[in-house]
Amino acid sequence: MTDSFDRTIDYVRIAVTDRCNLRCFYCMPAEGIPYEPKAHLLSYEEITRLLQVLGTLGFRKVRFTGGEPFLRKDFMQLLENTAGIDDFKSIHITSNGTLLQRHIPRLKELGITKINLSIDSLDKARFQKITRRDDFEKVMQTFHMLVDNGFKIKLNAVIMKGINTQDIIPLAELAKDYPVDVRFIEEMPFNGGYKENLEMYSARDIYADLKAHFSDMEKLPGKHGDTASLLSVPGYKGNIGVIAAFSRTFCNTCNRLRISSKGEIKSCLYDDGVFNIRDFMRSGVTDLELADKFRELIQLKPKDGFEAEKLRKAPKAAMQSMSSIGG
Ligand code: 5AD
Ligand code: SF4
Repeated sequence: MTDSFDRTIDYVRIAVTDRCNLRCFYCMPAEGIPYEPKAHLLSYEEITRLLQVLGTLGFRKVRFTGGEPFLRKDFMQLLENTAGIDDFKSIHITSNGTLLQRHIPRLKELGITKINLSIDSLDKARFQKITRRDDFEKVMQTFHMLVDNGFKIKLNAVIMKGINTQDIIPLAELAKDYPVDVRFIEEMPFNGGYKENLEMYSARDIYADLKAHFSDMEKLPGKHGDTASLLSVPGYKGNIGVIAAFSRTFCNTCNRLRISSKGEIKSCLYDDGVFNIRDFMRSGVTDLELADKFRELIQLKPKDGFEAEKLRKAPKAAMQSMSSIGG
């Protein structure tokens, strides 16, 4: 499917829960966010149905996010269903890495090996300060277990001025010994109302820090739909990426649709939810009607994240948490 700006849309990101066991301060306030009652979340059968319909529309890649997806008891069941849908050969998960260790053998059996882990610091105290929880060792252990089991891992680090800019180089150096992409993300204003004004450490600032340290690094050509500008350092096993999530420099090749845990379709991360597909589904529509609705929503996709932000009705972006949007 192409949208009205001739972008091919074939990637769906689905938040399976808004709950999280960490409290990263760029994502939610210390007390958490008001969670949706379970009945408001899309069931795994509903998610499976949505994926089957999206498959008929040419979608080929899915990423499950949260909150923390492994908090959901039926998450493995959902993954099993998804692995059985022929159209979706590319199944990805974004996780905080605290709860997934025991699922590694089954994930391997299902061929689900592409996992993004969020690690914002390699310093235990700073990790704790950012996530407001004491899980640094657990997450690093998960990282090593995934590497040892041949998973394709990307590390995500949100970089914040005055908080963890000193982690950029140590995190990037993980790509020397391990075949992992380490990606640095600009902070975005989706923090559940914790703070409204961000003091930006921009993609350019991050890039300058990297360039100062890795003078021989090179830019790699981008692929359609990439949000990260990829850099390679000679001799490194993995690449380094910078994601201008706030500056939004990649919207012209956007290939994605988002579905929040309660079924809000977001045709852009910066919109405030354009349609509730859960209610539509629960009203008894057919698969063909669902497919038509997706076609219609894809045509409404805004040109870029700035346009989407302008079209927001409510609430302010900062009042939403990434945990309910799905990263
Ligand atoms: N700004 C930037 N990135 C964020 N994430 C969560 N909240 C924010 C935010 N406010 C990141 C997480 C995770 C990814 C899905 O989104 O760290 O890596
Ligand atoms: Fe796509 Fe919106 Fe993200 Fe831009 S900000 S890449 S349009 S989802």
